[in-house]
Formats: sequence, C-alpha cells, structure tokens
Amino acid sequence: MDSLKIIGGQPLSGEIPISGAKNSALKLMAACLLTAEPVTLTNMPNLADTRFLSQLLQTLGVEVYWPKGDSECRLNAENLTSTIAPYEQVRKMRASFNVLGPMLARYGHATVSLPGGCAIGARPVDLHLQAFEAMGADLLVEQGYVKAAAIHGLKGAQIVFPFVSVGATEHAMLAATLAKGETVLENAAREPEIADLADCLISMGAKIEGAGSSTITIQGVDELHGTHHKVMSDRIEAGTYAMAVAAAGGHVTLTNAPVGALSAINHALRNAGVKVEADKDAGTIEIETTGQPLTAVNVDTAPHPGFPTDLQAQFMALMSVARGTSIIRENIFENRFMHAPELSRLGANIAVRGSEAIVTGVEKLKGAPVMATDLRASVSLVIAGLAAQGETTVSRIYHLDRGFERLEEKLSAVGANIRRTRDEDEG
Ligand code: EPU
Repeated sequence: MDSLKIIGGQPLSGEIPISGAKNSALKLMAACLLTAEPVTLTNMPNLADTRFLSQLLQTLGVEVYWPKGDSECRLNAENLTSTIAPYEQVRKMRASFNVLGPMLARYGHATVSLPGGCAIGARPVDLHLQAFEAMGADLLVEQGYVKAAAIHGLKGAQIVFPFVSVGATEHAMLAATLAKGETVLENAAREPEIADLADCLISMGAKIEGAGSSTITIQGVDELHGTHHKVMSDRIEAGTYAMAVAAAGGHVTLTNAPVGALSAINHALRNAGVKVEADKDAGTIEIETTGQPLTAVNVDTAPHPGFPTDLQAQFMALMSVARGTSIIRENIFENRFMHAPELSRLGANIAVRGSEAIVTGVEKLKGAPVMATDLRASVSLVIAGLAAQGETTVSRIYHLDRGFERLEEKLSAVGANIRRTRDEDEG
C-alpha cells in the first residue's frame, strides 16, 4: 500500500490546474448507456473511480477507448452484452449503481447489485427506487440485487423527492430522458454536476428544462444520439487546493476552475481572512494568505448552493489552525467525522458531539503518522500535514487515488514537500 510523506511548513506558490469533476464524469459515463452511438467525453479525470466505472461498462459490453493518462474517453454502447451489474463491481464504487436507470430506460430491464453502505454513512438508494417505481418499473430486491423491469418502457411521472438527493435526481433524470411523456422532478438537487449532466443529455437529443433549479422537467424522446461533451471542472478539487494554500500559506492561482460553482467556498475562505480573487471569464481563482492568523468560521454543510459536505473535512483541517473556535455541522451524512481523531493526532483540538464538531484552533500542528479513512478525510490529512511542523505520513492513500488526479505532482509543483512511498521503500 502506498503512503504520502509530507514535510510541512512550506508556503505554496504558482499555479494548480484543476481536473475534470469526478462526480460529474461518473454520471456522464453512465449516460453513454442511453444511446447506440458513441459518446466522447473530454476533460476526463484519470482516477481510480472513473477507471473503475469504465471496467464495469466494459463488463456490460460497452466499447471503451480511453488510453491511460488521456483526458479524452470514447464510449460506445451500441451492443450491450449484459444488463447485469455484479456485486463485486458495484460494491467497490457506489456510483456504479447509476447504470441501472439508463439500462432500464433503453432496454426495459436491468439487474444491478445494491451498493451497500459505506464509511461515511448508510447511504440507501430508496429514493432512486421510488422514482423508477413512479415511472412504472416493477422492482424486485432479491439476494442483494435490484431486478428492474418495464416491459412496455418507462412512463413519465411527477416525482416529489422528500429530501434532496444528488444521486436520485441524476438517476431519475437519466431514466426519464427515454420515458414516454413528461417527468417532473420536484425538490431536485441543484448541484452544478446536475446541470452538467443535463447539458450533455440535451446535446444527445434529450428535452430537459430547469436542471440546476429545484424543479426539473423532462419530455421523454424515443432515442438519443451520440455527442462530444467536456466534463465540468472539479469544484471539490478546486476548493481542496484553495484550503491547502490557506492552511500552508502562500499565493496560488487555480486554473481551469469552475468559478461559478464555488461561491459558498470562496465566501467561507474570505470570512476566514484569505484573499480570494475569482475571474469567471478566465476560469481562475487566486488564493493568497496575508501572513495573519486565520479567523475561525462556522460552517453547516447543506445541499448546493450551501457549503458542500465534500469539503467539510478539508475545512476542519483549516480551522484547526485558525484563531478561535469554529463549529462545523455535518447535515448530509451521519458518519463523516472520521478525520477528527486523525487530525487530533497532529495536535488539533476537536470535540465531536453528534453531528457537530467544535474546533478550537491551535497555533501549530505537529507532524505525525495518520491514516486515511475515506476520500475527503484523506485529503484533509494532507492539508493538515502541509500546515504542520515536521513530517506527516498519511497511510492508506488508495482512497485519495479514487478522487484526486496527480495530487502529489500538483502540490509539489507549487513547492510542497510531498512524496509517495511504497511499503517496499520502507524496508
Ligand atoms: N439518501 C437516502 N436515500 C437515497 C439517496 C440518498 O436516504 O435514495 C441520503 C444519503 O444517505 C445522504 C443524503 O441522502 O444522507 C444525501 O445523499 P445524496 O444522494 O445527495 O448523495 P450521493 O448521490 O450518494 C453524491 C456524491 C457524494 C456527495 C453527495 C452530496 C457522487 C458519486 N457522490 O453522493 O460525493 O458527498 O452527493 O453532495 O456524486 C465524494 O465525492 O467523496 C462523495 C461522497
């Protein structure tokens, strides 16, 4: 297993290019199942998760042309050989579940393993299933699999989500593109990745209005065609690097950044005393620290346009070195504070009470060995390591490789002292 060794205390300066968004790319890849024509995605992030979904798609019979390291990926789902997504593949990555809706809509049947819970929470898929039932699908959950059938095709439906779910909104939207008639999704999630998915589907011939708002209307069409689509840039990666610069100190410009999607994050950083200059036309965000200690800021995670849960761990690392006490509330997932005890190993002062973490800033963190527990938790430890005095080793970084493209290369290029070691290097 690989680890990262970080010697903290180096200010960062230069430019960091932001990659395509993992959470957009995964749904865009699933969209290829809706058409018999090729879908070409550019600005694709080379990540364990996107490579993993590419393998699952190939298991289903999709032809994938995506050379290693390339940012263009061509998917052709003309001849599917199976509509069964097996447990061994779905359990490794939850977003694999999103192949169900497109296959059900195009072929009238699909069998997909239930994804199961994960480290950050139970994460059921009941809202996804309710949406398909509302569209007329017959569902049977048996031996850990969802067997879905709609022999005469899916029908448009009025779906009111009881609470906001990114995955259920995207999944229902994917399926509704080929349903007969109109589907209206109420209380839909408004994450920028949903608008990105809708843009791609529209370019394939889908009729969708309102994506990015809480009501999305989809008029089903008989078939969709191929397209070229550029994956939006990753707002979580951009926010993560912004917080890394804020924690380590320095002056860095993020390029290819999704500026419009980062308002809540920029707002929290400015309140903490970080200079943030965003240029929407240029797609850049300049992050600069003032040399003064950061100010403690409270944040509550919320669906977009609120503060994203996927940046809560990183913000906690930042608040660990701010002056004063901040309260961080996690409102999306029930178990997303696993980084708190690891941050404490570096000297952070954090008390967790239910869904609230009370972070009292310390003047300096001190390097220590720590362990990554999930994707965003892992990168919060990297941020803390960059700010800490001395050496931090983050082990189990396979979590990081799921969602951050060339992390140590991007950070080294702006002056961080960070390197990957393999267990055999340790002797
Ligand atoms: N939920 C249900 N039933 C459902 C669906 C969701 O109870 O049928 C609950 C979840 O358990 C959670 C809440 O609703 O408590 C919100 O979950 P949501 O469906 O919005 O999340 P998701 O679609 O499973 C995506 C991202 C997550 C991100 C969340 C919230 C992908 C692949 N994943 O998950 O990203 O945290 O939205 O923004 O898009 C990550 O990248 O590290 C990550 C976890």
